[in-house]
Amino acid sequence: MKLVVVKNDQEMSQTAARFIMEQVKRHPHSVLGLATGGTVVGTYAQLIDLCKLEKQSFQHVRTVNLDEYVGLSSENLNSYHYFMRDHLFDHIDIPVENYHLPNGLAKIPANECERYEQLIESLGGIDLQLLGIGRNGHIGFNEPGTSFLSRTHVVRLTESTRQANARYFPSLEEVPTEAITMGIATIMNSKKILLLVSGKHKANILQQLFYGPLDERIPASILKTHPHVTIIADEEAVSLLDRNDLEVNMT
Ligand code: F6R
Repeated sequence: MKLVVVKNDQEMSQTAARFIMEQVKRHPHSVLGLATGGTVVGTYAQLIDLCKLEKQSFQHVRTVNLDEYVGLSSENLNSYHYFMRDHLFDHIDIPVENYHLPNGLAKIPANECERYEQLIESLGGIDLQLLGIGRNGHIGFNEPGTSFLSRTHVVRLTESTRQANARYFPSLEEVPTEAITMGIATIMNSKKILLLVSGKHKANILQQLFYGPLDERIPASILKTHPHVTIIADEEAVSLLDRNDLEVNMT
């Protein structure tokens, strides 16, 4: 894992947007795996600015998102579908048929998982997967205890994840109890992975990721075995890492 330490959330977003931009410039037909959540909001904003500034087209880019809530339509303000349009897709020239998320309203969610896996395969796999990380180490909605071999599947959300996400909903009761998520093996199949970590509240999990064991109780720990992972983390997030580990990696 390559660690890039940056000053703060803003610098993390700029560095991440540049990283994604370089991928698209080099490979305009890239398949990007995308994430939602607070961590990536700034990255998408910077990416939109870069696209305008550098007149970069996303006409041929295809995207697949990590996850979606079960029971929410793409028009629901709290769906990840809506989040992605609001924060990225509506502001760049990616054609609507080129971006994909699991369908939260699928009649048979298990079949939707199968369809999503096949879709990713038919696109030729993911070239670059963007990830955030939960305080408990989850990636996508893969909560602690999820098999490292898992493929796209339906998950029951833990109370801690529902509570963490409740800030986006009118009340905790309205946070869905299930989601469809790419599995850990699906994520690990990506050719490259970019993990973004910012804030003091993520320092503990980043420390565990670095010094803890490879353990299904910490889903993100599997990333240590991937050959091409870049972590962009801010100073608060790396505050519990060893100085020696940081100095060689400082940008
Ligand atoms: C979102 C996702 C989640 C988030 C994680 C961190 O698509 O898959 O794993 O990346 O929950 O969320 P934030 O960025 O809100 O701290």
